Amino acid sequence: MRPTRAQAWETLTRYTQSESLRRHALAVEASTRLYARRQGEDEELWAVTALLHDFDYEIHPTLDKHPQDGAPILREEGYPEEVITAVLSHAEHLALPRDTPLKRTLFACDELSGFVHACGLVRPTGLEGLESKSVKKKLKQPSFAAGVHRDEVYAGAELLGLELDEHIANVVASLQPIAPELGLRSSPA
Ligand SMILES: [Fe+2]
Ligand SMILES: [Fe+2]
Repeated sequence: MRPTRAQAWETLTRYTQSESLRRHALAVEASTRLYARRQGEDEELWAVTALLHDFDYEIHPTLDKHPQDGAPILREEGYPEEVITAVLSHAEHLALPRDTPLKRTLFACDELSGFVHACGLVRPTGLEGLESKSVKKKLKQPSFAAGVHRDEVYAGAELLGLELDEHIANVVASLQPIAPELGLRSSPA
């Protein structure tokens, strides 16, 4: 079966009621898509994987269950192993190899999308004009978006072989078009 974006959204929203978790999925989808497009990869499959990467977090909010206990559910729903192994690989505690571009990109986009999203939420103009250097400055403030693992942000850029500035700029650019869906202001009020 070839999974569609609509199917992944249906699975995600069946298991996830939290608006912030749904928004996180959309943010990771947008940034993962940008890289798929640029590299001529299978954009729909990458989008499906990104949407589903935390689909079970609401029902499995602890690391002894997330994301590993979600995998049998995805299998049951007919998602291909390529999607399932990529979903599993985003979790640091499982220490699985990130041996495909999809796995590397998902990992690199996960924490940084959340962080950039958080930066946008505290700015009156949302993501407009948000520069890499101010994102980097905020990364150095441990109290800001404290739940975001900085080491994973840095490791992600390295895994993609990109300068952190460039990776941040890509993620910001990918989120700008979906600012309203992310609860961000899309233009100055
Ligand atoms: Fe996760
Ligand atoms: Fe995530």
